[in-house]
Amino acid sequence: MLFFGGDYNPEQWSEEVWAEDVALMRQAGVTMVSLGVFAWSHLEPEEGRFEFGWLDRIMDRLHEGGIRVALATPTASPPPWFTLAHPEGLPVTADGVRLTHGSRDTYCVSAPAYRAAARRIATELAGRYARHPALALWHVHNEYGTDCRCDLTASAFRSWLQKKHGDLDTLNESWTTAFWSQRYSEWAQIMPPRATQYLPNPAHVLDFRRFLSDELLAAFAEQRDLLRAAGPQVPVTTNFVQGGWVSVDHARWASEVDLVAVDHYPAAADAEGEAETAFGADLARGWAGGEWLLMETAPNLIYTPGRMHAKEPGRLTRHSLNYVARGSRGAMYFQWRQPRGGAELFHSALVPHAGPDSPVFREAVGLGRALRTLAPYAGGPVDARVAVSWDAPSWWALQGGGLPAADIDYPAAVRQVHRALYRSGVATDFVFPGQEGFEARLAAYRVVFLPHLFLVSDEDAAALRDFVAGGGHLVVGHLSGIADLAGRIRLGGYPGAFRDVLGVRVVEWRPLAPGTTIALDNGDQGIRWSERVETAGAETVVRYAGDVLAGAPAITRNRLGDGVAWYVSPGLGDDDLRRLLDRVTAEAGVAPVLPGLPPEVEAVRRGDLLFLFNHGATPEIVPLPGPGTDALTGRALSGAVTVQPGGVTVWRGE
Ligand code: GAL
Ligand code: ZN
Repeated sequence: MLFFGGDYNPEQWSEEVWAEDVALMRQAGVTMVSLGVFAWSHLEPEEGRFEFGWLDRIMDRLHEGGIRVALATPTASPPPWFTLAHPEGLPVTADGVRLTHGSRDTYCVSAPAYRAAARRIATELAGRYARHPALALWHVHNEYGTDCRCDLTASAFRSWLQKKHGDLDTLNESWTTAFWSQRYSEWAQIMPPRATQYLPNPAHVLDFRRFLSDELLAAFAEQRDLLRAAGPQVPVTTNFVQGGWVSVDHARWASEVDLVAVDHYPAAADAEGEAETAFGADLARGWAGGEWLLMETAPNLIYTPGRMHAKEPGRLTRHSLNYVARGSRGAMYFQWRQPRGGAELFHSALVPHAGPDSPVFREAVGLGRALRTLAPYAGGPVDARVAVSWDAPSWWALQGGGLPAADIDYPAAVRQVHRALYRSGVATDFVFPGQEGFEARLAAYRVVFLPHLFLVSDEDAAALRDFVAGGGHLVVGHLSGIADLAGRIRLGGYPGAFRDVLGVRVVEWRPLAPGTTIALDNGDQGIRWSERVETAGAETVVRYAGDVLAGAPAITRNRLGDGVAWYVSPGLGDDDLRRLLDRVTAEAGVAPVLPGLPPEVEAVRRGDLLFLFNHGATPEIVPLPGPGTDALTGRALSGAVTVQPGGVTVWRGE
């Protein structure tokens, strides 16, 4: 079965609407809904007094309708009574402002009262519903991420630091507290990062980000464990969010959930929305190490800056099947029914304000049918021979002030590499330095790209060197290998950790002013970044041609053992980067999923299925790899197929 459905909030509606909901869900082929995500004040209207009658009734009704439930613990949004009784459970900002209820996600994860209240409601739900026949999945909390800088956080942070560093000398050394007289002589002197007069210590901030991720994980794990204890047969997950502020290190969390579930909201209305969808799905599959679940996306809108863009006809289907093609066990949305009020009253839904007689609901009905048809064949793996590194701590380290350029953008650098591979139709995975088993995972790939891998451990650097020596192709971009895991610079020339594998030494950074470029001798233009590179064994492939760097190496290639390591010193535009990566993948013997595709057509292979997405406005003829069947219509296919504008064809090989 593929999961199809979304966040369902019956607590916002009367029971007559529930009856219509279940009927419409059946009409659309909904197979699962997420229930109770923000229902705490409806489940526990007063401290210790529970009202489960309504949840019993809707669980039973859904079960009768054949619809499974991902039952949430509602702990992302404590009710007003909680915050009034336990003001220390409210989060405090870096400026010392204690926030109050009236929105959501207003809790301090380090406050014992919050943790106790969360455990209590989770225990009640577990005891009552663990054996309910509709229950398919526990959905703990929602998008863990709230950040707090209060005194309770301070003491939890200190305990975490004591465990990590052991003694203060080690911490002082790791944080370089000799700079600006920050040497700590008692643990109690250490605070969470709060508003400071000028730049904070980056190592302090970095450790706090790691602490916060672990602290939130501990809160998740205690709920998970009590849910598992009540019903070990039901898998437990929480929905990860991929956004601008990444609070947790998902690569570390992934092994703690039974199924990686991800919320993904592309933000571009144009073709970039499709590239973002592919990126989000590939990253999710990387975290999962295989199958994952799209827990939320918007059915009918893309939040672009300043405007909600309504999706074009067919785009809901294309986006949804793209997630499935890239490893999702289905497509779930925020949300089922568009609300009458509340902060997100204009957020799109499968059943919009207009009701089911609407384009989005009609498209959902067709999509539900398509998912039902594909379900028996959609479980195969996605096979990729190239991988890109993703590293939350490097992102965190590159978010601070005091960096060599204000426009350093970690996610943009990773996205750009992924986009280049995406445009060339090359199936792409992600790998996670620092994750257990990193070295073993590298063995699956012919090519590995490291964009802005700023922090790296000696072990991971050695694993990447072995990968090259063993015949792999490594492409290192600037701002990689610069520091150890504490953020201390590796001395002797950049990119410290990768100097030997690359056969280069960078002696000076020369970030470029916005809007300016530096010429390269192959006709490309460097943007954003340039450096003075010296070769130490590597061959120079491209040189800088302008400025004080004229004649100096810009892109180099080093043979090491059976493999090759490339260094890309300048920033490049999309087309220039794509040409370079095409050369690297071709040399490594990696072919696109389907060669010779029209540019508007995207091909994704999952197991026996080949998904062909036509994102353009005209029909496109696509040559097929062999005879097979149209998995959506059952029609026999051979030779080539015409994919309709805005449409999807799924070929299943014989
Ligand atoms: C998600 C969140 C949902 C809803 C949605 C709106 O991040 O989990 O509850 O707010 O965003 O796009
Ligand atoms: Zn707090």
